[in-house]
Amino acid sequence: MIKLGVNVDHVATIRQARMTYEPDPVTAAGLADLGGADVITIHLREDRRHIQDRDLDLLRETVFTKLNLEMATSQEIVDIALKLKPAQITLVPEKRQEITTEGGLSVTTQKKMLTDLIKRFKDNDIYVSLFIDPDKDQIIASSDVGAQSIELHTGSYANAESEEQSTELLKILNVAVGIAQNQGLRVNAGHGLTYKNTGPVVEQLDIEELHIGHSIVSRAIFVGIEAAVREMKDLIYKHYMIKQSL
Ligand code: PXP
Repeated sequence: MIKLGVNVDHVATIRQARMTYEPDPVTAAGLADLGGADVITIHLREDRRHIQDRDLDLLRETVFTKLNLEMATSQEIVDIALKLKPAQITLVPEKRQEITTEGGLSVTTQKKMLTDLIKRFKDNDIYVSLFIDPDKDQIIASSDVGAQSIELHTGSYANAESEEQSTELLKILNVAVGIAQNQGLRVNAGHGLTYKNTGPVVEQLDIEELHIGHSIVSRAIFVGIEAAVREMKDLIYKHYMIKQSL
């Protein structure tokens, strides 16, 4: 079965809007766990716009499924990750001005730095994934630098403006999955996935983990986070079974 990673940054975004203590992303992670989340994802950004160091410390203590830390490669965040040792890290590019992570990581242009960094993480028993665009050169470079997994950026697919476009973008993602698997990489996917556009991803792509944040937290405002996570899990299960019957 495809695993569901729930990104709880958006809960922290609401808290930071008032610089207060609520809503707590740690509570959200516990409830997401009850709803069936397989992975809890957080992004400790350099500007600390949502997740705070205190959240990371508490989640490291309390997440018993799998904690996936999204992070940039800055020295400060690398030191924190090496100290805390989350089960998995996903390296992402980070820009101060962006609303959310925009493009994938450029692996091809940073091979030496990434090779050294990934080795340090792996030596510390941290599983390393790279968030990249569905691009052949980036996938091959990800394997070259020693990543164990990639997360394919589904943002373009999610933003498709027509059915033809979304079919075309799914094909590109599918080719990318094949290239990655041939390189021995495990493949995750995420960004912009919703209750409407996740079904075709499940049916057509051979993915290990889907990482979803905004859509689940948005629904949670109305139905609660446990129910929102369970609905996404059910949706993934339904489409996974359709795939098995094809
Ligand atoms: N994967 C990565 C690497 C991300 O940066 C994000 C956004 O924080 C997500 C997945 C989840 O994206 P969304 O919030 O659009 O579901």
